[in-house]
Amino acid sequence: MNTFIIYISPAGTTREIAHTIEKTCQALGHTVRSFDLGNKIKVSEVAQCIKETMGEICVFIGSPVYACHAVPPIMEMISQLPERSGSYSVPFVTYGVVTSGIALYEMANMLNGKGYHVIGAAKILAVHSLMWQLKNPLGAGHPDEIDKKMIGDLVKKVDEKCNVKTVRGLSLSQLNYQPEALRSAMEQITLDVAREMLPSRQINQERCTKCGICADTCPVEAITCDPYPMFGKKCFLCYTCMRLCPENAIEADFSQVEGFLREKTKEFTEQPPSGIFL
Ligand SMILES: Cc1cc2nc3c(=O)[nH]c(=O)nc-3n(C[C@H](O)[C@H](O)[C@H](O)COP(=O)(O)O)c2cc1C
Repeated sequence: MNTFIIYISPAGTTREIAHTIEKTCQALGHTVRSFDLGNKIKVSEVAQCIKETMGEICVFIGSPVYACHAVPPIMEMISQLPERSGSYSVPFVTYGVVTSGIALYEMANMLNGKGYHVIGAAKILAVHSLMWQLKNPLGAGHPDEIDKKMIGDLVKKVDEKCNVKTVRGLSLSQLNYQPEALRSAMEQITLDVAREMLPSRQINQERCTKCGICADTCPVEAITCDPYPMFGKKCFLCYTCMRLCPENAIEADFSQVEGFLREKTKEFTEQPPSGIFL
């Protein structure tokens, strides 16, 4: 089996899950190619690589959940996958306790539409990446060993499925697990709505040394330094620039964020927190 693992992971937890998938696939004898879209790899290059691969393929595709959805680079990747028959897919998401939203459902819908038969999926609890400055963030300690075992089991089951002649796909209704009223509300939430609610960033020009680390580490190359950093349209609010700035020169007022997110967890109370779908 030719296995592709494609993901983006500004704060590293989706990458941890992708690595577990990679190790398990390798142990099962798959030929594995991994692509971190936050690492200056173009969607078109990944699409071309898939196009040139002969035989059956399985694409594991992973995103953090941002404002109830998969992040834009992942949806862009799915939309650019070359159409091909005999291909399978397994969407997976990490989320920071609040809600996994409708990310898996939307990813699976689009993957099926592209002919990538969805045969498994996973949502995995993770530390909330907007809470990196806090001692006790939501989801602290996740993904843990149990989450990772769950992912390993998913990969083994997916492998078994691919080895039988008639592969049973996942019913999309399995991924449509949010209560109706919440789902309709989630459809209205967009990253632009979140942008209005999340703290805006300012550059402290006295601290900024114009080192360019923010631009280099931005997963979507949305920052230009002229000479101070400016955030372009592709910015999807991962705050990697702020987290990694060695001078703390990118400032934003996060004082309201913790209370807001903890309050939100009461609204959603998603169970089970981590889960696989087969
Ligand atoms: C802008 C933004 C929006 C987020 N929205 C959600 C959300 O809707 N639900 C949730 O549970 N976590 C949310 N999170 C937390 C991330 O989904 C979670 O921390 C994820 O594991 C991060 O993945 P990464 O470590 O691969 O970057 C959000 C984080 C950011 C930065």
